[in-house]
Amino acid sequence: MSVVHGIRTLGVLGSGQMGLGIAYVAALRAKVPVLLYDRSAEQIDKGLKLMDKLLAKDVSKGKIQDIEAKEARERLSVVSQEQGLKGLRDADMIVEAVSENLSLKQKIFSSLSSECRPDAILASNTSSISITKIAASTIPEGQSAASELGKQSAARVVGLHFFNPVPVMKLVELISALQTSTDTLERSRAFAIACGKEVTVSKDVPGFVSNALLMPFINEAIMWLEKGVATKEDIDKTLKLGMNHPMGPLQLADFIGLDTCLAIQQTLYQGTGDSKYRPSVLLERMVDAQWYGRKNGKGFYEYP
Ligand code: CAA
Repeated sequence: MSVVHGIRTLGVLGSGQMGLGIAYVAALRAKVPVLLYDRSAEQIDKGLKLMDKLLAKDVSKGKIQDIEAKEARERLSVVSQEQGLKGLRDADMIVEAVSENLSLKQKIFSSLSSECRPDAILASNTSSISITKIAASTIPEGQSAASELGKQSAARVVGLHFFNPVPVMKLVELISALQTSTDTLERSRAFAIACGKEVTVSKDVPGFVSNALLMPFINEAIMWLEKGVATKEDIDKTLKLGMNHPMGPLQLADFIGLDTCLAIQQTLYQGTGDSKYRPSVLLERMVDAQWYGRKNGKGFYEYP
């Protein structure tokens, strides 16, 4: 039996490449009104420009009609800086897509829990951080995890992990915290499907299925470069042409963002204590140098 997601309005927190991509598939494919919030007005501007660019590209390629693009654009509205998180209070689901930082996410979820509707699903697009820890941060002040309010609040938190570029990648990885209710999980699954995605489910382990497998691969490639086994071009070409990967691992690391790769690897290493997840020194140094990859023009490669 198919579950009705019941999302009449979606809130998206964070207007970077992931947040905007999520807003895009929700407005265009799931056809729901989207409220977009970012604490940086500059980032909102960038996000709206990207939305217009993506819609215009789809129209020019004949993938969608002009009218569909116009309707999708009209479904997107911006929450003002003055309104802040309060501006998301009418949303039935809020997807957080800010940077990979546990304390930032805990602060945000604690505020969402008090500012937003008590029955709204609170989803995180985190790539590796524990959904169980995030869910615990929504327990209202003065309540315990075992109280009715405490249980209800944490039960609506879920991991909804999209992949970059969101409009293109077919997967959403759904992560169930210890506290997540079946209703939250199934409605989130139905919503991801309405956005045109296929869904897999992972337990709340560091990195989930996707990054627990991907990050050691990327890290190993960086260590092979560090050891001088081959050039960066040859490492990438080997995997691209030899194994039919769409991108080599170093190109992919630049694409994801080296700061994000390092943050995920640190979560994996700290969360498991397993040395196979220890980030390579070269990756740490590159992030120290503020070489973040494609997003700021310099990583393993340069992006003028
Ligand atoms: N945003 C939106 N659309 C994009 C895009 C972007 N940033 N980049 C490319 N596209 C679209 C193109 O417009 C094109 O669309 P059409 O089919 O409509 O023409 C399509 O993707 C293919 O693009 P190109 O022909 O320009 O280039 P390509 O064939 O080399 O594909 C790619 C580009 C889709 C990014 C491909 O290289 C790829 O799949 N790379 C691997 C991406 C990947 O592994 N992503 C997951 C990263 S891990 C993650 O996100 C999660 C995490 O937790 C870290």
